[in-house]
Amino acid sequence: MALLLAEHGADIVVNDLYADRADKVAAEIEALGRKTVPAPFDVTDAGQVSAMAKEAGRLGTVEIIVNNAGVPPLEVALSGRKLFAETTPDEWEPYIRLNLYGVMYVTRAFIEGMIETGWGRVVTIISDAARTGDPRLAAYAAAKAGAAGFMRTLASEVGRHGVTANCVALGGTKTENFLAAMPEELIEKASARYPIRRLAEPEEVARVVLFLCSNAASIVTGQTYAANGGYSYTL
Ligand SMILES: NC(=O)c1ccc[n+]([C@@H]2O[C@H](COP(=O)([O-])OP(=O)(O)OC[C@H]3O[C@@H](n4cnc5c(N)ncnc54)[C@H](O)[C@@H]3O)[C@@H](O)[C@H]2O)c1
Repeated sequence: MALLLAEHGADIVVNDLYADRADKVAAEIEALGRKTVPAPFDVTDAGQVSAMAKEAGRLGTVEIIVNNAGVPPLEVALSGRKLFAETTPDEWEPYIRLNLYGVMYVTRAFIEGMIETGWGRVVTIISDAARTGDPRLAAYAAAKAGAAGFMRTLASEVGRHGVTANCVALGGTKTENFLAAMPEELIEKASARYPIRRLAEPEEVARVVLFLCSNAASIVTGQTYAANGGYSYTL
């Protein structure tokens, strides 16, 4: 998403929990001739988000936010895959902090700048789980559905200032983290449940995000785009 937006002329603040990931993407963006700031901050920590906002100021006013981080570190995510009846409240926390507080902290940090500018785009990546549910991922599904409600409310508040707010709901998408957690045979099995008989490539999702961030989508706000090969419509 960051690379595609950069290819289309955006300067990018590359946030990631891990500095090496932020640096790698920032170097690729620089190679595309755009300005960039690597921002290795944890979006679940309000203090770190404020520090990120300061760093981001080096590029000027932030006009586009893509809230993408959504899966806690792999070991937490794997150990958290339990039936709801087997979970304890502290196990819900990482999902809700990341998918709800993270989205709200980052959006809060930049939304006033967008309102002042009179133009802005907020895109939050959610999941089919928000609508369909997902066994063993109750807290994740709840947090993603919460993010969708937050985004609809945001849309209703900021539309008059030229700012749009939309979600993109993913089904299985072959991101680096997803591939690290998912064996090849499971990917094949899962693909059979999608009308297009395959999972999404990250680039396909990025193109939907690019559209929502562009002037071409000026009339689209308060919506959830499903970039999922038709999955949730066939359940
Ligand atoms: N890959 C899929 O199949 C799939 C399916 C449905 C929804 N999604 C959603 O798509 C988005 C991207 O998913 P992904 O598969 O790339 O996994 P991901 O959320 O783990 O990865 C995105 C990036 O966010 C970073 N990140 C994680 N926690 C962070 C934090 N606290 N602060 C800052 N950065 C942090 C990660 O290091 C990673 O580089 C997520 O919101 C996820 O819930 C993905």
